Amino acid sequence: MKRVALLGATGSIGRQALEVIAGRDELELVAASSGSTPIDDLAPLTQVGGDLTELLEQAEPDVVLNAVVGFAGLPATFWTLERGVDLALANKESLVAGGDLATAAWGRGRGRLLPVDSEHSAAFQLLDGRAAETVDSLVLTASGGPFRGRSRAELADVTAADALEHPTWRMGQKITVDSATLMNKGLELIEAHFLFDLPYERIEVVVHPTSVVHALVRLRDGAALAHLGYPDMRVPISYALTYPERAATPIEPLHLAGGLTLEFEAPDVDAFPCLAMARTAGETGDTAPCVLNAANEVAVAAFLEGDLAFLGIADVVERTLARVECAPARDLKELAAVDAEARRIASELTRQLVH
Ligand SMILES: NC(=O)c1ccc[n+]([C@@H]2O[C@H](COP(=O)([O-])OP(=O)(O)OC[C@H]3O[C@@H](n4cnc5c(N)ncnc54)[C@H](OP(=O)(O)O)[C@@H]3O)[C@@H](O)[C@H]2O)c1
Repeated sequence: MKRVALLGATGSIGRQALEVIAGRDELELVAASSGSTPIDDLAPLTQVGGDLTELLEQAEPDVVLNAVVGFAGLPATFWTLERGVDLALANKESLVAGGDLATAAWGRGRGRLLPVDSEHSAAFQLLDGRAAETVDSLVLTASGGPFRGRSRAELADVTAADALEHPTWRMGQKITVDSATLMNKGLELIEAHFLFDLPYERIEVVVHPTSVVHALVRLRDGAALAHLGYPDMRVPISYALTYPERAATPIEPLHLAGGLTLEFEAPDVDAFPCLAMARTAGETGDTAPCVLNAANEVAVAAFLEGDLAFLGIADVVERTLARVECAPARDLKELAAVDAEARRIASELTRQLVH
Protein backbone atom coordinates (compact mmCIF):
# COMPACT_ATOMS: atom_id res chain seq x y z
CA MET A 1 0.00 0.00 0.00
CA LYS A 2 1.12 3.55 -0.75
CA ARG A 3 -0.18 6.29 1.52
CA VAL A 4 -1.07 9.28 -0.68
CA ALA A 5 -1.51 12.89 0.44
CA LEU A 6 -3.35 14.86 -2.24
CA LEU A 7 -2.95 18.64 -2.09
CA GLY A 8 -5.34 20.62 -4.29
CA ALA A 9 -7.86 17.78 -4.32
CA THR A 10 -10.71 19.93 -5.67
CA GLY A 11 -8.86 21.18 -8.76
CA SER A 12 -8.60 19.77 -12.25
CA ILE A 13 -5.54 17.60 -11.42
CA GLY A 14 -6.90 16.83 -7.95
CA ARG A 15 -10.20 15.46 -9.25
CA GLN A 16 -8.47 13.30 -11.85
CA ALA A 17 -6.06 12.06 -9.17
CA LEU A 18 -9.03 11.00 -7.03
CA GLU A 19 -10.26 8.93 -9.97
CA VAL A 20 -6.84 7.29 -10.39
CA ILE A 21 -6.57 6.57 -6.65
CA ALA A 22 -10.10 5.11 -6.50
CA GLY A 23 -9.15 2.71 -9.31
CA ARG A 24 -6.04 1.27 -7.60
CA ASP A 25 -6.26 -0.90 -4.48
CA GLU A 26 -2.61 -0.25 -3.66
CA LEU A 27 -3.14 3.52 -3.38
CA GLU A 28 -4.62 4.74 -0.10
CA LEU A 29 -5.75 8.36 0.20
CA VAL A 30 -4.71 9.39 3.72
CA ALA A 31 -4.98 13.18 3.43
CA ALA A 32 -6.51 15.78 1.13
CA SER A 33 -6.55 19.56 0.99
CA SER A 34 -8.20 22.44 -0.85
CA GLY A 35 -7.78 26.21 -0.80
CA SER A 36 -11.32 27.15 0.23
CA THR A 37 -13.76 24.49 -1.06
CA PRO A 38 -15.19 22.26 1.73
CA ILE A 39 -13.90 18.65 1.51
CA ASP A 40 -15.10 17.10 4.79
CA ASP A 41 -15.38 13.40 3.94
CA LEU A 42 -12.83 13.10 1.17
CA ALA A 43 -10.05 11.50 3.26
CA PRO A 44 -9.30 10.54 6.88
CA LEU A 45 -7.39 13.83 7.26
CA THR A 46 -8.53 16.96 5.44
CA GLN A 47 -7.52 20.60 5.51
CA VAL A 48 -8.99 23.68 3.86
CA GLY A 49 -6.44 26.47 3.39
CA GLY A 50 -3.77 27.15 6.00
CA ASP A 51 -0.29 25.68 6.29
CA LEU A 52 -0.29 22.44 4.30
CA THR A 53 2.91 21.21 5.95
CA GLU A 54 0.87 20.70 9.18
CA LEU A 55 -1.40 18.31 7.31
CA LEU A 56 1.61 16.48 5.85
CA GLU A 57 3.23 16.13 9.30
CA GLN A 58 0.11 14.39 10.58
CA ALA A 59 -0.49 12.29 7.49
CA GLU A 60 2.95 10.64 7.23
CA PRO A 61 2.47 9.96 3.51
CA ASP A 62 4.62 7.75 1.26
CA VAL A 63 3.89 10.07 -1.65
CA VAL A 64 2.62 13.65 -1.85
CA LEU A 65 0.78 14.74 -4.97
CA ASN A 66 1.11 18.52 -5.02
CA ALA A 67 -1.67 19.81 -7.28
CA VAL A 68 -2.03 23.23 -5.67
CA VAL A 69 -1.96 26.09 -8.17
CA GLY A 70 0.60 28.88 -7.84
CA PHE A 71 3.23 29.97 -5.32
CA ALA A 72 0.99 28.66 -2.50
CA GLY A 73 2.29 25.18 -3.41
CA LEU A 74 5.93 25.88 -2.49
CA PRO A 75 6.01 25.11 1.26
CA ALA A 76 4.55 21.63 0.71
CA THR A 77 7.07 20.91 -2.06
CA PHE A 78 9.97 21.96 0.15
CA TRP A 79 8.64 19.93 3.10
CA THR A 80 8.34 16.82 0.94
CA LEU A 81 11.71 17.12 -0.80
CA GLU A 82 13.57 17.90 2.41
CA ARG A 83 12.21 14.75 4.10
CA GLY A 84 12.92 12.44 1.20
CA VAL A 85 9.23 11.61 0.78
CA ASP A 86 8.28 10.88 -2.83
CA LEU A 87 6.84 13.93 -4.57
CA ALA A 88 4.46 13.72 -7.53
CA LEU A 89 4.70 17.31 -8.69
CA ALA A 90 1.97 19.05 -10.68
CA ASN A 91 2.64 22.43 -9.05
CA LYS A 92 5.21 23.60 -11.62
CA GLU A 93 5.38 26.98 -9.88
CA SER A 94 7.42 25.25 -7.14
CA LEU A 95 10.32 24.66 -9.52
CA VAL A 96 9.86 27.92 -11.40
CA ALA A 97 9.86 30.19 -8.36
CA GLY A 98 12.05 28.07 -6.11
CA GLY A 99 14.08 25.83 -8.41
CA ASP A 100 17.49 26.37 -6.80
CA LEU A 101 16.23 25.84 -3.25
CA ALA A 102 13.95 22.95 -4.24
CA THR A 103 16.71 21.04 -6.03
CA ALA A 104 19.03 21.58 -3.06
CA ALA A 105 16.33 20.17 -0.74
CA TRP A 106 15.81 17.27 -3.15
CA GLY A 107 19.56 16.56 -3.02
CA ARG A 108 19.50 16.48 0.78
CA GLY A 109 16.29 14.42 1.09
CA ARG A 110 17.09 12.07 -1.80
CA GLY A 111 13.46 11.07 -2.37
CA ARG A 112 11.87 10.66 -5.79
CA LEU A 113 10.70 13.72 -7.71
CA LEU A 114 8.15 12.50 -10.25
CA PRO A 115 6.81 15.14 -12.61
CA VAL A 116 3.08 15.16 -13.31
CA ASP A 117 3.14 17.79 -16.05
CA SER A 118 2.56 15.66 -19.15
CA GLU A 119 5.60 16.97 -21.05
CA HIS A 120 7.89 16.40 -18.08
CA SER A 121 6.45 12.99 -17.33
CA ALA A 122 7.20 12.12 -20.96
CA ALA A 123 10.71 13.56 -20.73
CA PHE A 124 11.33 11.70 -17.47
CA GLN A 125 10.42 8.44 -19.19
CA LEU A 126 12.51 9.24 -22.28
CA LEU A 127 15.55 10.15 -20.19
CA ASP A 128 15.21 7.41 -17.56
CA GLY A 129 18.42 5.37 -17.41
CA ARG A 130 20.01 7.21 -20.33
CA ALA A 131 23.63 8.37 -20.06
CA ALA A 132 23.63 12.20 -19.92
CA GLU A 133 26.38 12.51 -22.55
CA THR A 134 24.21 10.72 -25.16
CA VAL A 135 21.47 13.37 -24.91
CA ASP A 136 21.76 16.41 -27.17
CA SER A 137 18.55 18.17 -26.27
CA LEU A 138 15.03 17.93 -24.94
CA VAL A 139 12.05 19.13 -26.99
CA LEU A 140 8.89 20.24 -25.18
CA THR A 141 5.73 20.41 -27.27
CA ALA A 142 3.13 23.16 -26.91
CA SER A 143 -0.41 22.97 -28.27
CA GLY A 144 -0.18 26.67 -29.16
CA GLY A 145 -3.38 27.34 -27.20
CA PRO A 146 -6.66 28.78 -28.48
CA PHE A 147 -4.99 31.75 -30.22
CA ARG A 148 -2.44 29.88 -32.31
CA GLY A 149 -2.03 31.54 -35.70
CA ARG A 150 -3.27 34.96 -34.58
CA SER A 151 -1.12 38.06 -34.93
CA ARG A 152 -0.42 40.39 -32.03
CA ALA A 153 -3.03 42.87 -33.37
CA GLU A 154 -5.63 40.10 -33.43
CA LEU A 155 -5.02 39.43 -29.74
CA ALA A 156 -5.84 42.95 -28.56
CA ASP A 157 -9.52 42.32 -27.81
CA VAL A 158 -9.65 38.66 -26.80
CA THR A 159 -11.55 37.96 -23.58
CA ALA A 160 -11.08 35.57 -20.68
CA ALA A 161 -13.92 33.43 -22.08
CA ASP A 162 -12.00 33.15 -25.40
CA ALA A 163 -8.78 32.25 -23.59
CA LEU A 164 -10.50 29.54 -21.53
CA GLU A 165 -11.50 27.63 -24.71
CA HIS A 166 -8.41 25.41 -24.85
CA PRO A 167 -8.29 23.19 -27.96
CA THR A 168 -6.85 20.01 -26.42
CA TRP A 169 -6.69 20.12 -22.59
CA ARG A 170 -9.38 20.75 -19.91
CA MET A 171 -7.51 22.35 -17.02
CA GLY A 172 -7.83 24.92 -14.23
CA GLN A 173 -8.30 28.57 -15.23
CA LYS A 174 -4.80 29.83 -14.44
CA ILE A 175 -2.93 27.23 -16.46
CA THR A 176 -5.44 27.59 -19.32
CA VAL A 177 -4.69 31.31 -19.59
CA ASP A 178 -0.96 30.50 -19.29
CA SER A 179 -1.39 28.16 -22.26
CA ALA A 180 -3.04 30.94 -24.26
CA THR A 181 -0.12 33.34 -23.64
CA LEU A 182 2.47 30.53 -24.01
CA MET A 183 3.71 31.47 -20.52
CA ASN A 184 2.83 27.91 -19.56
CA LYS A 185 5.51 26.62 -21.91
CA GLY A 186 7.92 29.20 -20.52
CA LEU A 187 7.21 27.96 -16.99
CA GLU A 188 7.69 24.39 -18.24
CA LEU A 189 11.03 25.32 -19.77
CA ILE A 190 12.27 26.46 -16.35
CA GLU A 191 10.69 23.40 -14.71
CA ALA A 192 12.53 21.12 -17.17
CA HIS A 193 15.84 22.90 -16.55
CA PHE A 194 15.65 22.08 -12.84
CA LEU A 195 14.13 18.61 -13.16
CA PHE A 196 16.60 17.29 -15.69
CA ASP A 197 19.61 19.50 -14.97
CA LEU A 198 19.76 20.64 -18.60
CA PRO A 199 21.05 24.07 -19.67
CA TYR A 200 18.42 26.27 -21.34
CA GLU A 201 20.11 26.18 -24.74
CA ARG A 202 19.48 22.42 -24.80
CA ILE A 203 15.73 22.70 -24.24
CA GLU A 204 13.65 23.52 -27.33
CA VAL A 205 9.97 24.37 -27.59
CA VAL A 206 7.94 23.42 -30.64
CA VAL A 207 4.24 23.93 -31.34
CA HIS A 208 2.33 20.71 -31.95
CA PRO A 209 -1.40 21.49 -32.15
CA THR A 210 -2.92 18.09 -31.32
CA SER A 211 -0.83 17.47 -28.16
CA VAL A 212 -0.27 13.79 -29.04
CA VAL A 213 3.53 13.97 -28.82
CA HIS A 214 4.28 15.21 -25.30
CA ALA A 215 8.07 15.50 -25.55
CA LEU A 216 11.04 14.33 -27.60
CA VAL A 217 14.66 13.67 -26.75
CA ARG A 218 17.30 14.22 -29.40
CA LEU A 219 20.29 11.90 -29.03
CA ARG A 220 23.86 12.50 -30.18
CA ASP A 221 23.67 9.86 -32.93
CA GLY A 222 20.87 11.76 -34.71
CA ALA A 223 17.98 9.68 -33.35
CA ALA A 224 15.00 11.41 -31.76
CA LEU A 225 12.75 9.54 -29.32
CA ALA A 226 9.18 10.70 -28.77
CA HIS A 227 6.52 9.98 -26.17
CA LEU A 228 3.00 9.77 -27.58
CA GLY A 229 -0.49 9.46 -26.15
CA TYR A 230 -3.86 11.21 -26.25
CA PRO A 231 -3.91 14.28 -24.02
CA ASP A 232 -5.26 12.88 -20.74
CA MET A 233 -3.69 13.87 -17.42
CA ARG A 234 -4.77 10.62 -15.76
CA VAL A 235 -1.84 8.95 -17.56
CA PRO A 236 0.99 11.03 -16.02
CA ILE A 237 -0.87 11.15 -12.66
CA SER A 238 -1.11 7.36 -12.62
CA TYR A 239 2.50 7.00 -13.75
CA ALA A 240 3.75 9.24 -10.91
CA LEU A 241 1.58 7.63 -8.22
CA THR A 242 2.34 4.03 -9.19
CA TYR A 243 6.01 4.51 -10.17
CA PRO A 244 7.93 2.31 -10.85
CA GLU A 245 5.14 -0.24 -11.48
CA ARG A 246 3.35 1.73 -14.24
CA ALA A 247 -0.14 0.47 -13.43
CA ALA A 248 -2.74 -0.11 -16.14
CA THR A 249 -5.24 2.70 -16.83
CA PRO A 250 -8.59 2.72 -18.65
CA ILE A 251 -7.25 5.27 -21.16
CA GLU A 252 -7.89 4.57 -24.84
CA PRO A 253 -4.75 3.48 -26.73
CA LEU A 254 -3.57 5.55 -29.69
CA HIS A 255 -5.59 4.81 -32.81
CA LEU A 256 -2.79 4.94 -35.35
CA ALA A 257 -4.62 3.78 -38.46
CA GLY A 258 -7.38 6.37 -37.95
CA GLY A 259 -5.50 9.09 -39.78
CA LEU A 260 -3.22 10.33 -37.02
CA THR A 261 -0.99 13.09 -38.40
CA LEU A 262 1.72 14.87 -36.45
CA GLU A 263 2.35 18.51 -37.26
CA PHE A 264 4.97 20.79 -35.76
CA GLU A 265 5.74 24.49 -36.17
CA ALA A 266 7.88 27.15 -34.53
CA PRO A 267 6.23 29.26 -31.81
CA ASP A 268 5.34 32.84 -32.81
CA VAL A 269 7.56 34.80 -30.43
CA ASP A 270 6.19 38.13 -31.59
CA ALA A 271 2.54 37.41 -30.79
CA PHE A 272 3.43 35.44 -27.65
CA PRO A 273 6.37 37.21 -25.95
CA CYS A 274 5.89 35.42 -22.59
CA LEU A 275 7.78 32.37 -23.80
CA ALA A 276 10.95 34.35 -24.56
CA MET A 277 10.57 36.33 -21.33
CA ALA A 278 10.49 33.11 -19.33
CA ARG A 279 13.56 31.81 -21.11
CA THR A 280 15.45 35.01 -20.32
CA ALA A 281 14.32 34.94 -16.68
CA GLY A 282 15.45 31.31 -16.44
CA GLU A 283 18.84 32.14 -17.92
CA THR A 284 19.19 35.14 -15.59
CA GLY A 285 18.54 32.82 -12.67
CA ASP A 286 18.46 33.78 -8.97
CA THR A 287 15.04 35.23 -8.18
CA ALA A 288 14.19 36.32 -11.76
CA PRO A 289 11.92 33.27 -12.35
CA CYS A 290 10.24 33.92 -8.97
CA VAL A 291 9.48 37.50 -10.04
CA LEU A 292 8.25 36.32 -13.45
CA ASN A 293 5.95 33.81 -11.77
CA ALA A 294 4.56 36.27 -9.22
CA ALA A 295 3.89 38.97 -11.82
CA ASN A 296 2.24 36.42 -14.07
CA GLU A 297 -0.04 35.19 -11.28
CA VAL A 298 -1.17 38.77 -10.58
CA ALA A 299 -1.65 39.62 -14.25
CA VAL A 300 -3.54 36.42 -15.06
CA ALA A 301 -5.89 36.96 -12.10
CA ALA A 302 -6.57 40.52 -13.32
CA PHE A 303 -7.20 39.25 -16.86
CA LEU A 304 -9.62 36.61 -15.57
CA GLU A 305 -11.46 39.36 -13.66
CA GLY A 306 -11.78 41.32 -16.89
CA ASP A 307 -9.58 44.12 -15.49
CA LEU A 308 -6.55 43.65 -17.76
CA ALA A 309 -6.29 43.12 -21.52
CA PHE A 310 -4.73 39.89 -22.79
CA LEU A 311 -1.64 41.70 -24.09
CA GLY A 312 -1.38 43.44 -20.72
CA ILE A 313 -0.29 40.16 -19.13
CA ALA A 314 3.07 40.20 -20.94
CA ASP A 315 3.38 43.96 -20.29
CA VAL A 316 2.93 43.56 -16.55
CA VAL A 317 5.42 40.69 -16.40
CA GLU A 318 8.03 42.53 -18.44
CA ARG A 319 7.76 45.75 -16.43
CA THR A 320 7.80 43.93 -13.09
CA LEU A 321 10.95 42.07 -14.11
CA ALA A 322 12.55 45.42 -14.98
CA ARG A 323 11.73 46.84 -11.53
CA VAL A 324 12.58 44.06 -9.10
CA GLU A 325 16.23 43.43 -8.45
CA CYS A 326 17.21 39.78 -8.59
CA ALA A 327 19.52 38.10 -6.09
CA PRO A 328 19.92 34.56 -4.77
CA ALA A 329 17.33 33.61 -2.11
CA ARG A 330 18.75 31.72 0.85
CA ASP A 331 15.51 30.17 2.07
CA LEU A 332 11.78 30.02 1.52
CA LYS A 333 11.26 33.08 3.72
CA GLU A 334 13.48 35.22 1.48
CA LEU A 335 11.80 33.80 -1.59
CA ALA A 336 8.36 34.60 -0.17
CA ALA A 337 9.51 38.19 0.43
CA VAL A 338 10.59 38.50 -3.22
CA ASP A 339 7.31 36.97 -4.34
CA ALA A 340 5.37 39.48 -2.21
CA GLU A 341 7.38 42.44 -3.51
CA ALA A 342 6.90 41.35 -7.13
CA ARG A 343 3.16 40.96 -6.51
CA ARG A 344 2.97 44.46 -5.02
CA ILE A 345 4.69 45.98 -8.07
CA ALA A 346 2.72 43.88 -10.55
CA SER A 347 -0.55 44.97 -8.89
CA GLU A 348 0.51 48.61 -9.08
CA LEU A 349 1.45 48.24 -12.77
CA THR A 350 -1.83 46.45 -13.47
CA ARG A 351 -3.78 49.35 -11.93
CA GLN A 352 -1.80 51.82 -14.09
CA LEU A 353 -2.54 49.86 -17.26
CA VAL A 354 -6.25 49.69 -16.42
CA HIS A 355 -6.69 53.42 -15.76
N1 LIG B 1 -4.92 20.91 -15.01
C1 LIG B 1 -4.00 20.33 -15.73
O1 LIG B 1 -4.31 19.58 -16.65
C2 LIG B 1 -2.54 20.55 -15.40
C3 LIG B 1 -1.58 19.98 -16.25
C4 LIG B 1 -0.23 20.13 -15.92
C5 LIG B 1 0.13 20.84 -14.79
N2 LIG B 1 -0.82 21.39 -14.00
C6 LIG B 1 -0.41 22.16 -12.81
O2 LIG B 1 -1.05 21.60 -11.68
C7 LIG B 1 -1.36 22.61 -10.74
C8 LIG B 1 -2.86 22.59 -10.46
O3 LIG B 1 -3.53 22.92 -11.66
P1 LIG B 1 -5.11 22.75 -11.82
O4 LIG B 1 -5.39 23.02 -13.24
O5 LIG B 1 -5.54 21.47 -11.21
O6 LIG B 1 -5.61 23.98 -10.93
P2 LIG B 1 -7.07 24.24 -10.34
O7 LIG B 1 -8.09 23.46 -11.06
O8 LIG B 1 -7.24 25.72 -10.27
O9 LIG B 1 -6.97 23.65 -8.85
C9 LIG B 1 -6.12 24.23 -7.91
C10 LIG B 1 -6.22 23.50 -6.58
O10 LIG B 1 -5.40 24.21 -5.65
C11 LIG B 1 -6.19 24.61 -4.52
N3 LIG B 1 -5.68 25.89 -4.05
C12 LIG B 1 -5.77 27.10 -4.68
N4 LIG B 1 -5.16 28.04 -3.92
C13 LIG B 1 -4.70 27.43 -2.81
C14 LIG B 1 -4.01 27.89 -1.66
N5 LIG B 1 -3.67 29.19 -1.50
N6 LIG B 1 -3.68 27.00 -0.71
C15 LIG B 1 -4.02 25.69 -0.84
N7 LIG B 1 -4.68 25.20 -1.91
C16 LIG B 1 -5.02 26.07 -2.90
C17 LIG B 1 -7.60 24.71 -5.05
O11 LIG B 1 -8.56 24.64 -4.00
P3 LIG B 1 -10.02 25.34 -4.15
O12 LIG B 1 -10.85 24.45 -5.01
O13 LIG B 1 -10.55 25.42 -2.77
O14 LIG B 1 -9.78 26.68 -4.79
C18 LIG B 1 -7.64 23.50 -5.98
O15 LIG B 1 -7.84 22.32 -5.24
C19 LIG B 1 -0.87 23.93 -11.35
O16 LIG B 1 0.42 24.23 -10.88
C20 LIG B 1 -0.80 23.62 -12.84
O17 LIG B 1 0.17 24.39 -13.51
C21 LIG B 1 -2.14 21.27 -14.28
